[in-house]
Amino acid sequence: MSGRGAEKRVALVKGDGVGPEVIDGALAVLEAAGADLEFVPVELGYGQWKKTGKAMAEEDLDLVKTCHCVLFGAITTPPDPDYKSVLLTLRKGLDLYANIRPFRTADLDFVIVRENTEGMYSGVEKLDEEEATTLRVITLRGSLRIAEKACAIASKREKLTIVHKSNVLKSDNLFLRICRETAHRWDVPFEDMLVDAAAYNLVINPKRFDVIVTTNLFGDILSDEAAGVIGGLGLCPSANLGEKYALFEPIHGSAPDIAGRGIANPIGAIRSAAMMLEWFGEVGKARMMEEAVEWTLAQKVATPDLGGSCSTREVAEAISKRLAWSD
Ligand code: IPM
Ligand code: MN
Repeated sequence: MSGRGAEKRVALVKGDGVGPEVIDGALAVLEAAGADLEFVPVELGYGQWKKTGKAMAEEDLDLVKTCHCVLFGAITTPPDPDYKSVLLTLRKGLDLYANIRPFRTADLDFVIVRENTEGMYSGVEKLDEEEATTLRVITLRGSLRIAEKACAIASKREKLTIVHKSNVLKSDNLFLRICRETAHRWDVPFEDMLVDAAAYNLVINPKRFDVIVTTNLFGDILSDEAAGVIGGLGLCPSANLGEKYALFEPIHGSAPDIAGRGIANPIGAIRSAAMMLEWFGEVGKARMMEEAVEWTLAQKVATPDLGGSCSTREVAEAISKRLAWSD
């Protein structure tokens, strides 16, 4: 698959726990889809920390930057008080400001567009004996670019819901204003909703949502909730997008409790790989992968998290075989 001179260079970060297992599943399906990619393995995370004392070195970011994007499995947090999240370092280092999380089943279809670089994750914090603070930084530039991204997506769909807590947080007054102005400019139908109400409505009536745009931590929490609503974290992909680079990852973590048993659900990783192909402009192949996933789910070829008894590899093989038939 990794042909010489391939134009699409992908940094492959399998990571820890179930990361390598689900990424191997995604690689098999990419191959079956006929994707022409060059993979550059980059070892980051807990395993690397154990070997070298560092989960990620300075040069690693430089190596990643020689690639177009990253395909990422999952990373286990090392027991190190000085540990800086590898994923957050990559998001910041590559300026991946938009975290796109689609949630799709037979009867639900909505997207969470999460601001990915600021808000509660700005890193302006202090931890003392008696007091700890985290500054929630919302900027005009940060709000504008995520609002633009969300409107671009919503303009091809039905409507936008701006999720915030502006009745309490001054920072969300700015976020809400910019999102409203941007939605007006794009002429996309929109509403806004307080985050607590959004959390409730997501469970009570998820069908009312189409595209949600929100700040970093709210998006983090609501996307795990949304994953629960559609049937499980194992199904859900994500694309972290910037102007230049992108990173694709399943939204689940490294799940050390089931790592090494070959039963992790590869679908989140496979769908993330499909989002990567779409980003590269290979829309046809991406659709075929997504269709093969849906077909496989409909056949009840599933890992234990979905009530099935298949292994990671069996699910990836079923999807790959379906792709071979639809050629
Ligand atoms: C996610 C994860 C990350 C986040 C962690 C691992 C830093 O929960 O991608 O949703 O909080 O953004
Ligand atoms: Mn999360």
